[in-house]
Amino acid sequence: MSSMAKVCVLVGLGIAGLIIVSRQWEKKKRQKKRKEDFGAFIERLELLPPPQPAPPVARHILTDLTFALQDIFDVEGYVTGFGNPDWLRTHDPAAKTAGSVSLVVAHGATCVGKTVMDELAYSITGENRHYGTPTNPAIASRIPGGSASGSAVAVAAKLVDFALGIDTDGSVRIPAAFCGILGFRPSHGSVSTFGVVPMAQSFDTVGWFARDANVLRRVGHVLLQLPMVDLRRPRRILIADDCFELSSTPKEKIVDVVVRSIQDLPGRQVVNHVNLGQYITSKVPSLKIFRNEESRNGEGKSALKDLSNAFELLQRYEFKMNHEEWVSTVKPHLGYEISVRVRAALESTEEKIQSCLKARNEMREALCNLLKDDGILVIPTVPILPPNLRSKKRQLEEFYSRAFSVLSISGMSGCCQVSIPLGMHEGCPLAVSLMARHGADRFLLDTILDLHPSLQKQAEIASNTQPSISDDCQIDAAENYKEKGNAAYKGKQFHKAVNFYSEAIKLNDTNATYYSNRAAACLELGRFQQAEEDCSKAIEIDRKNVKAYLRRGTAREMLSYIKDAIEDFKFALVLEPTNKTASTALERLKKFVL
Ligand SMILES: *[C@@H]1O[C@H](CO)[C@@H](O)[C@H](O)[C@H]1NC(C)=O
Ligand SMILES: *[C@@H]1O[C@H](CO)[C@@H](O)[C@H](O)[C@H]1NC(C)=O
Ligand SMILES: *[C@@H]1O[C@H](CO)[C@@H](O)[C@H](O)[C@H]1NC(C)=O
Repeated sequence: MSSMAKVCVLVGLGIAGLIIVSRQWEKKKRQKKRKEDFGAFIERLELLPPPQPAPPVARHILTDLTFALQDIFDVEGYVTGFGNPDWLRTHDPAAKTAGSVSLVVAHGATCVGKTVMDELAYSITGENRHYGTPTNPAIASRIPGGSASGSAVAVAAKLVDFALGIDTDGSVRIPAAFCGILGFRPSHGSVSTFGVVPMAQSFDTVGWFARDANVLRRVGHVLLQLPMVDLRRPRRILIADDCFELSSTPKEKIVDVVVRSIQDLPGRQVVNHVNLGQYITSKVPSLKIFRNEESRNGEGKSALKDLSNAFELLQRYEFKMNHEEWVSTVKPHLGYEISVRVRAALESTEEKIQSCLKARNEMREALCNLLKDDGILVIPTVPILPPNLRSKKRQLEEFYSRAFSVLSISGMSGCCQVSIPLGMHEGCPLAVSLMARHGADRFLLDTILDLHPSLQKQAEIASNTQPSISDDCQIDAAENYKEKGNAAYKGKQFHKAVNFYSEAIKLNDTNATYYSNRAAACLELGRFQQAEEDCSKAIEIDRKNVKAYLRRGTAREMLSYIKDAIEDFKFALVLEPTNKTASTALERLKKFVL
């Protein structure tokens, strides 16, 4: 090799090295960013609200609230990404901002960015192979649900107060349920979809997420352009028993919680149980053409299946009408699951479409007659807990099939629906859905505001019912409860952790660790008084328990017993002179007493 060639090789290696280093740096940067924002955002941008009107005119009703947008809404000057880089590359910046977005900004909310979504909105898992899957803040090993995954994650992780997403087949309801927050799908056609990339117009709705029922209602009033007036209480609650039979979570965890919460409300409410499948069979005759031999046997259940078949057929057909040309010319790179769905859509034909549309109209009328003005239908949001990330094809098929059996009910009827979190089950968020007739959005929003506190209370009671323990664990039952408590604590299920530690204490009240651990969980729940008491007990048993001193110091600091807190941290420092937690707490507190 000539010396010139050697130099070239060296320079080449050097550049390759630089590229590798800079790639790794980019990757690190992305990972760091993912940690900070749970991978929820795809692009940061700011849309500021107009100035407040001069008094005595009331302030904008969404003042001080921040929100995020699924990357399917147009924002003037930005290219809408639709979850896929090829879409982004082949489209121009939007000329106008989506109507729903302008509306919430005009009413005082500040937009802080666009969020990651499933490619072409054609999936319900929330996994995106191009931009990464947003991390579910409730349980990181499970999917966040989609397609509005990033919007749900941004709200669940408290990065914003609310977020907008498009719900065609469950894209708001599913991630709301899986991330443990509220998600609202309005009546079809009640919020303008101007400036939104269409998926399937027969079902597309502008939905929204929130953690707080009041925020959910305020955003709803703006989007639905409703006057703020007095609350109206539901009179009839209909529980769709057959839908809950599809669910893998124990019925008492959901249905009983809902029934007890309703009984908490003032006034008299009537609770009825219905078989929705049977009702649909008799009221939606156009579904007959979807019935096959197999489904004729189990009448009621099969009606829900027929309904979801009709839904999927119409969704495929409309997706094809919207996007066939783009898919055929651009030939985008799509994740495997998505490409299967898109291919099926492109192969769909007009056959049966008229029957689907007819079934849709019959379904709307049937549910209007069932619910009238004062009825609320209770169904599972998704009759399955969130699947693991990167699940196998078989598991996903099961997920899709069960999910659509209940998600298609509001899809096909156009009814409004809200998903409400109901505590945890097996480490995963649980949810329930309430539906009202098409057009009764205000009534539904009022019902949530009314019912949300007692639902949360009853859900907490249900998750705290005494856990059963198996015989082979009897050897050291107290220790076993402590381990369960630790696991619950790690999973951030602090109520559960408190209960497990309490069981351990019931069995053996001479172990300081049980008290000290319960105190840690109480601190997380803001129960400072109890945390202080538990630490005192722990210290009584074991005078050298550093953790108990540190925790009691924290509890006392929160209770504003500053001097006592200082004593605790000082004592911890005596026992463990190098402990940074204790020394920084002391420095912080000394400022208060000077
Ligand atoms: C409680 O645990 C301690 C040690 O952890 C043990 O010495 C004691 O016997 C236990 N008491 C009961 C009632 O089991
Ligand atoms: C209390 O329990 C912990 C573990 O849970 C154990 O290591 C410790 O020995 C127990 N305390 C006493 C005094 O036996
Ligand atoms: C302080 O002490 C506690 C209890 O021993 C320990 O868990 C914690 O990690 C210590 N913190 C630091 C910063 O050393």
